Amino acid sequence: MSAHVVARRQIRGPNPQYRTLLDTMVLTERGARFELLQPDSQKSLLLSVSPCKNNTVRILIDELQPIKARYRVPDVLVGEPQGERMSVERQSKDSVTLSWSSGRHQVRVWHFPFRLEILCEDEVMVTFNSKGKLWFETLQEPPSSLWKETFKEFVDIKANGPSSIGSDLCLHGFSHVYGLPEHADDLQLRDTRDGEPYRLYNLDVFAYDVYSRFGLYGSVPLLVAHKPDRTLGLFWLNASETYVNVHYSPSEHQQTDVHWLSESGVIDCVVLLGPGPQQLFSQYAQLTGYQALPPLFALGYHQCRWNYNDEADVKAVDAGFDQHDIPYDVIWLDIEHTDGKRYFTWDPEHFPEPAELQHHLQRKKRKLVVISDPHFKFDPGWLLYNEAREGGHFVRDREGQIYLGSCWPGNRTVFLWLNCSCLIQGSTPSLFLWNDMNEPSVFGGPEQTMPKDAVHHGGWEHRELHNLYGFYQHMATAEGLIARSGGSERPFVLTRSFFAGSQRYGAVWTGDNVATWEYLEISIPMILSLSITGIAFCGADVGGFFRDPEPELLVRWYQAAALQPFFRSHCAIWSKRREPWLFGEEVTAAIRTVIKQRYCLLPFWYTLFHQAHTSGLPPLRPLWVEFPRDESTFSVDNQYMIGDEYLLFLHLLSVELFLFLSWFNCLGRHAGGALLACPVIKPGVEEIKVLLPGSDEVNQPPGNTFICFDGLADGELYLDDGHSFSYRDRKAFCLRRFNMLSGRLLCREDGAFDCDTVIQSLTVLGVKNKPSTVVVHLSGEEHLPDNYSSTFKKQSLQSAVTDEAKTGCDKHSGQTISRQDNNTQYKLKE
Ligand code: NOJ
Repeated sequence: MSAHVVARRQIRGPNPQYRTLLDTMVLTERGARFELLQPDSQKSLLLSVSPCKNNTVRILIDELQPIKARYRVPDVLVGEPQGERMSVERQSKDSVTLSWSSGRHQVRVWHFPFRLEILCEDEVMVTFNSKGKLWFETLQEPPSSLWKETFKEFVDIKANGPSSIGSDLCLHGFSHVYGLPEHADDLQLRDTRDGEPYRLYNLDVFAYDVYSRFGLYGSVPLLVAHKPDRTLGLFWLNASETYVNVHYSPSEHQQTDVHWLSESGVIDCVVLLGPGPQQLFSQYAQLTGYQALPPLFALGYHQCRWNYNDEADVKAVDAGFDQHDIPYDVIWLDIEHTDGKRYFTWDPEHFPEPAELQHHLQRKKRKLVVISDPHFKFDPGWLLYNEAREGGHFVRDREGQIYLGSCWPGNRTVFLWLNCSCLIQGSTPSLFLWNDMNEPSVFGGPEQTMPKDAVHHGGWEHRELHNLYGFYQHMATAEGLIARSGGSERPFVLTRSFFAGSQRYGAVWTGDNVATWEYLEISIPMILSLSITGIAFCGADVGGFFRDPEPELLVRWYQAAALQPFFRSHCAIWSKRREPWLFGEEVTAAIRTVIKQRYCLLPFWYTLFHQAHTSGLPPLRPLWVEFPRDESTFSVDNQYMIGDEYLLFLHLLSVELFLFLSWFNCLGRHAGGALLACPVIKPGVEEIKVLLPGSDEVNQPPGNTFICFDGLADGELYLDDGHSFSYRDRKAFCLRRFNMLSGRLLCREDGAFDCDTVIQSLTVLGVKNKPSTVVVHLSGEEHLPDNYSSTFKKQSLQSAVTDEAKTGCDKHSGQTISRQDNNTQYKLKE
């Protein structure tokens, strides 16, 4: 396969050494530029270094004088963060040191061999080209023998010769790195010396292997490094086929060497300097965009299969949820609902009244999602096909003809250019979309995808932008949905293929998994890896796509997925029906419990998504994100946090997940809190061991729910209309912050959302003695009106917490105050 050739060429070397021509340095408003010279070939490169106010440094290397422009990834970065001016700190014939932010940050550029160090407070954090692996194949005029590569029966013609690029970066003091989805592997990246590098090349992989570094459906070229006092990121902005080698050297100098290699484009690498995980998430979100705030329904439960056969089938499944008292929000239709695999149409026999079907569901406030793949049936009799063809919207082959591949519509399938959207006939406002096969998947194509020399809009070869194809379909679909409502409603679009920045357009799922325990297990690190690289709204097919899960696995999968952001059951056309009530009353009851608990927690999930949308913090966080100094957490990926640290809820986990989930009753009703999750992922398990991290990082249990501790606690709750952009355009939201300190609970509110949600009761745990009075401050007044009542119960904090877990809010412990009001400050006086 051609890219393996790329990787081999670069890894084998010899790697030419570059010289920095220090006297070519130009300082600009946004950083500095230097020429790099390769003495043997006399080829010159242009290096720019641009520090930004948000603690990031961008390193860009291109040819000094390319014969034509090389591809630079467009549309992924959401805007240039404010640049910093650098000044010369020190200069000699060997190096120049430039500094910014009052000397706190520096870059040192070495003359020979060229390398670039980034220093924070005089400590070298990262060295670019530390091992001298900088590689830059310059574009050439034809011809050359290297320009034709063959892979099986496929021939790849490289118009301007091989154009691969690469470099290594040394991360000083780090021995844990993460990120680079999508791989079905552990969260912490492995040392790749024992085998293959991590591959980033979006592919439709049939029943993918677990514990593999082979590329899957999407790519985010962000690597996150963590050590107790620093979290750092390397973002390699390149959309061509990319490989990453990771070499840990823990014993020698505690460093990690990362070698990036891409098939073409330019070197565009942003170093994110943290210093903590939260700053890193924020820096990355400022660069590639924040997670879109999903409509509230999208955080509920979704029911899907390939396929629900017809309108009667959909209505029967919908009614089944009511009959079995199981809440759900969305039912999905796969490819069979279309008229002969023409997306945007309906099979006239099985779906003759699509709008009526949508109204039927909408009357119960439920939604319909339909699939729309990026390929088109080659059908000159189909209006939409003709419009797309006349508009010049199809990908072409290297001879300039419309590229014909094979996919669901058959052997004569054509593929949309990037960035086109179409509207579905019979669409009502409760119809949403699912983008699949958008790697793009081409049956029988090289590695089941499009040839690299196919040509896109603007004349760019597919090789340049392969990993962006799904990103653009997702973008176009989301923008199409926004346009449908005239710009007022939030879209919901699920995509299989993705790239950095896809978080701006909706949700991602992990593709075609299998109904076995190992796929349930791997779903957790896969989703954590997506979460820390910006793709916060993600999930895996509940129950496994291929094959049929045994009931125990199905229940455990529901329990695990209820604790993941995107919660959808889905299976293949060959799998047996799997609606929750088909496995006997015990299974139905277990699934009902889990789904109900998910719904109890919706305000909590929504608040976390608001946080992701505004701060970049993902709802799901590996333990080290919340306990950054506790090294015992750094390799853990079967447990994770939902929200911030919250220790007291952990004790229940060692018993059983059912019991753990019963916690959600109380949390859900109170909203705004944080959980540690440790789903059961093995058969026959009755007890699991849970790591309770951070014991020396927090002095008091920092509860941040309405169930507060009489100590230090804070938290927030976010509400809005759940579907429109009014929260953004008219500040129509309510962000309520709670803060508990020394017996005083403060509620403050931001936003202008008129909602009828009231606080009915408040439970304070850990109150040692019965308070003599409870004072309520309302708009500055101090009083205790008649409609308050309070109770006090003495018991240990732990048993109070346990009671809350077992019985939800029905059984209170501690001090309970009841009243209906919004703007209140409560003060307990002992
Ligand atoms: C592949 C997708 O991964 C799967 O979820 C879907 O059901 C099939 N394509 C059919 O559309």
